[in-house]
Amino acid sequence: MDHVLEPRSFANLTSVAGLSRTTLDEHYQLYCGYVKKANSLSERLTAIQMTPELASAVDIVNIKGDLCFALAAVRNHEMYFDILGSRKISIPAMLQEQISANFGSMDNYLEDLRRTAMGTRGWTWTVMDQHTGRLWNFSGHHNGQFPFWDARPILTLDLCDHAYFYDFGHHRADYVNCLIDHLNWEKPAEFLTLGSQSHRPPILAGT
Ligand SMILES: [Fe+2]
Repeated sequence: MDHVLEPRSFANLTSVAGLSRTTLDEHYQLYCGYVKKANSLSERLTAIQMTPELASAVDIVNIKGDLCFALAAVRNHEMYFDILGSRKISIPAMLQEQISANFGSMDNYLEDLRRTAMGTRGWTWTVMDQHTGRLWNFSGHHNGQFPFWDARPILTLDLCDHAYFYDFGHHRADYVNCLIDHLNWEKPAEFLTLGSQSHRPPILAGT
């Protein structure tokens, strides 16, 4: 079985509202670096699994931590690149309904998303709890800080300095507003549908 990752290509990265080609090109190269690192760590870990005496227990744990971090960076960037848009796109009705049911209104959701994004230097996700169907906005200060098991992301925002500093300087709020105002909302709707198809039943007490 071939587990080697290949960097995905993103046609939408040629034109993203508010972000220069320099930022997008550099950011894409960073993503490619994580793909390469994940492959390298995966290969090394596979060798160790076949011959455990190649590494100490501490080394094994460290390599596994680094691999999880690299894989999380790959997945985060892929969803982030997927949802970047070049113009204002109306939010699909199905997504609006789900969001409004969870946040009271779209405006409440967008305000919560903005505030959650402004409170982190890493990532912000809209996730669906696959056990309950509940939607939340959560943050992690780095790739290895994802919210909880079975929280399926439907939207991912990169709040690391490299994502915006070249174009917006220290004006993070302008970046966040520009990003949210021009998202390709068709993608979160698509990810929500996919997540709903793998909905899991609630875990019952005592089981
Ligand atoms: Fe990034």
